[in-house]
Parts: sequence; structure tokens; C-alpha cells
Amino acid sequence: MEKIIDENKQGETLVLDQKEGNKRKLFIESYGCAMNFSDSEIVASILATAGFNTTQNLEDADLVLVNTCSIRDKAEQTVRKRLEKYNAVKRDLNPKMKVGVLGCMAERLKTKFLEEEKIVDLVVGPDAYKDLPNLLAEVDEGRDAINVILSKEETYGDISPVRLNSNGVTAFVSITRGCDNMCTFCVVPFTRGRERSRDPQSIIEEMNDLWHRGFKEITLLGQNVDSYLWYGGGLKKDFDKASEFQKATAVTFSNLLELCAKTQPKMRIRFSTSNPQDLTLDVVETMAKYQNICNHIHLPVQSGSNRILKEMNRLHTREDYMGLIDNIRKIIPDCAISQDMIVGFPTETETDFQDTVSLMDYVKYNFGYMFTYSERPGTMAERKMKDDVPEEVKKRRLQDIVDLQREHSEIRTKEYLHTVVEVLIEKESKKSITQWSGRTPQNIVAVFPKEHYKVGDFVNVKVTDCTSATLIGEAIGLSMNN
Ligand code: SAH
Ligand code: F3S
Repeated sequence: MEKIIDENKQGETLVLDQKEGNKRKLFIESYGCAMNFSDSEIVASILATAGFNTTQNLEDADLVLVNTCSIRDKAEQTVRKRLEKYNAVKRDLNPKMKVGVLGCMAERLKTKFLEEEKIVDLVVGPDAYKDLPNLLAEVDEGRDAINVILSKEETYGDISPVRLNSNGVTAFVSITRGCDNMCTFCVVPFTRGRERSRDPQSIIEEMNDLWHRGFKEITLLGQNVDSYLWYGGGLKKDFDKASEFQKATAVTFSNLLELCAKTQPKMRIRFSTSNPQDLTLDVVETMAKYQNICNHIHLPVQSGSNRILKEMNRLHTREDYMGLIDNIRKIIPDCAISQDMIVGFPTETETDFQDTVSLMDYVKYNFGYMFTYSERPGTMAERKMKDDVPEEVKKRRLQDIVDLQREHSEIRTKEYLHTVVEVLIEKESKKSITQWSGRTPQNIVAVFPKEHYKVGDFVNVKVTDCTSATLIGEAIGLSMNN
């Protein structure tokens, strides 16, 4: 299964902020991780100052941008299919439209994109969006344009994003860019560059602005949030070279969390993603100290086998990970924990796979995202190892853990039966127009009859029933957080 934020959001562009006087129309859609969805909001904001408002209709668009994902081959194939669709629309309905590719595929394929896909006029990597107005000027003059330069600075800290696909209640706030971890299977360090952190001041300003516009929950985003470190700018790897003053006044991730939690004590705060090797207990203690930091940690482990973890360059063992889980549960007993897993990494044996199964049995995650290994060009695993687990074995292992996770999710959701949970209402339930849908602090979806409540309310909900992924209940009143 693909890791996506919300299936409904794929390809949708809801118009929230429109600037008067803007004449040109931008259709923008995003694939892949939350960071891509967040980056598209930054892009829409940059282009709003260059004369573009967003549209939901491909047929009307002057400019079509697709923010792409390279994490697995399947993600790239999805984008290729979309390009075919744009091609058909351009040919039959909208010959004036220009097409640009953003994000990780742009960075990975660079000029190859212009050669391989005739429909593409513009290729822009994740750190080059500020250059879009200049690049578009070139496209307007009939030339293809490309910028895939990666940056050493947090590039968009000063941009206030336009909120696309917004429910008006929850928003993403980027805090770091890039990743220095070099997991051997992962293309992200190549497509998003080295790790750098954003000025806490600008993070707080964005959070305050969201709060004043009625938003009730933010998710702090980074490939590896726990490695956040602000010391005045620059790459994380250059921290050693910082001055004594910079080192003494540096802001860590737990400092940042605390700052956010204190600045807006009624705003829910989430974060994603944590690499187990970088998650420190002071972060967990800060979570415990502030009621508005949600009790959920997305803690991808990828494999339960020590040998495979080593081959993946994940710098912890199975035992370290289990110890971390024990500590999290000691400090926050009701903390939800979710996973990402990869099956069929090169050389993975049945015994290695059974180690993954037994680790899942140990943790009993609340939910998770599971994938078959997809070899990515340029990564260490691709260069040094043979993709030797047969496709049908990968598929069978995936099915096994997907089934196991469903069982575990069911056990976990059942723990909430007959309890009262706090739900932040986000939208109407997909299944019924008479029900609201929202999430608990543990990130579990809950649905309940609308009554007089409204989107953005924090509501106490008595859980009367559940499926493996959803709590079903009825509201018993507004929570004290309103
Ligand atoms: N730190 C990132 C991880 C990005 S990739 C984050 O913010 O989520 C998300 C997940 O995709 C990883 O945790 C991993 O489980 C999966 N993944 C990454 N590369 C992969 C590959 N080559 N094949 C299959 N799954 C992969
Ligand atoms: Fe990828 Fe590992 Fe970073 S999964 S994003 S290299 S933490």
C-alpha cells in the first residue's frame, strides 16, 4: 500500500486563499509524503505573488504542476500515468496549458524528464521553488526551464503558505528539510539534500498565524524531526564548526516542542517522522509534560532483524528499539505508536522476516504503513546488493504483516471501548452526512452523530463501538480545551 496522507486529497485542489487581480490559473497536485503536500502550499503561495490563483479544473489551467514522489517505483509510475492524462487534456481541450514537474522525481531525473516526457516544460527540484517566477518567464518565451539546485539553508522559512486541500482545522508546518541518515534503501537524501533546520521564530509565527485563522492542530514536519537543531542557520553536519555562543543557544527538537506547546497551549501539536536512532527521551518527557502535545509517535523501524537493520544502515538494534518502546510506555502509558515496515529487503530470509513478525507482536502497533522493497537507483542498496527476494515472496510477506497489523490495530482500538476520548472535529464522515469525523490525540479516527457540534470543536466522545481502524461513539459534551 502507498503511504499517502489522505486518499481523498490525491489530485484534489480546494481553493482556500485566492488573490484578487490574479489572472492566470494554477492546477497543482501532490503525491507522496506530507512534506510534498506542505511544499505545494509554499509553491501556491509563491505563485500567488506571480499572478496565479489555483483552480480545480485541469481544463482551465494555464499551468499544471505535479509534485512528485520517488520513494518507490510505483510512486513514479503513478506520476507517469498522470503525465499521460495531462497530455490528453492538452491535446483535446486545453492546448495553452504548460506542465511542470516538482519534487523528488524532478530532482532525481533532472534534464532526463525533458527528454523522456515531451509534455513537460518545466522541472523544479524541492529547493528551487523560489525560482519558479523566473523559470516561468522562460517557459512563457517558449523555452524549457529547469532548476534542481539543492540548498544549504532552510529555503522557505519566510514564506507563509497558502493552505490547499484545507479543512481549516489541521495544518502541516515544516521544521527541517533534507535527511543525513543515509538508510541504504532510501532515495530521500539524494532528492532532498542535506539536513537543515528552520528558525524557531518563523515556526512560531506560522503557528500563531494559523491559530488566529482558526486552525486547532499543527503537525511539525521533517524527514527526521528529532534531529532538528537550530543554531543560527546552516547544515546540521556543520554544527561542530559553530561558535561557542551558537552552541550554547542552540534549539533542539524537545526545546522547539516545548516552545510550541507553551506559545499556543490550546493548539494540538503533532510531529512526524521520528527515526528511532534520533528520538531522545527528553522529547518523550516534553510530550508528557504538555497536555497539548499529542500522545502519538510514528516510529518506523523497517525490520525486526538485527542483520537487516545493519544492512539498511539503521543505527540501532532490535533490542534498542524494544527498550525505547518500553521507555515511551513507561513515561506515557497511553502513547500510540505506529510503524513503517519494509519486507523483501535484499538477502531477507524467512528467519529475518519472522523477526519482523515477532517485533510487531511485541509492540502491537496502533497502526502502520507497510511496503515491499523497491530498488531505487543510486542508493547504497542498489549499488551494493542484489534485489534477490522474489516478487511473490515479497508480496506474501507483505500480506502476512498487513493481516497481522489489522489484528493488532483491532486490539488497540478495542482498548478504547466504553472510554471517553477527546476528538477534534475535522470534517463530515465519508460514510454518513449525519456524522462528524475527527481524531483523538493518539491519531485514531473517531466518528459520531453531528448534533449541534461544528468543525473545529474539541468534543468528548464516549466510544460505543469500533472497527479495526475507527472508533464509533457519541458526543457527551465539549471538552475543556475549547
Ligand atoms: N523519514 C521519512 C521516511 C521517508 S520514506 C518520513 O518522514 O516518513 C517513508 C517510508 O517509505 C519509509 O519509512 C520506508 O518504510 C518506506 N521506504 C523508503 N524507501 C523505500 C524503498 N526503497 N522501498 C520500499 N519502501 C521504502
Ligand atoms: Fe530515508 Fe532513512 Fe532519512 S528512511 S528519509 S534516509 S531517515
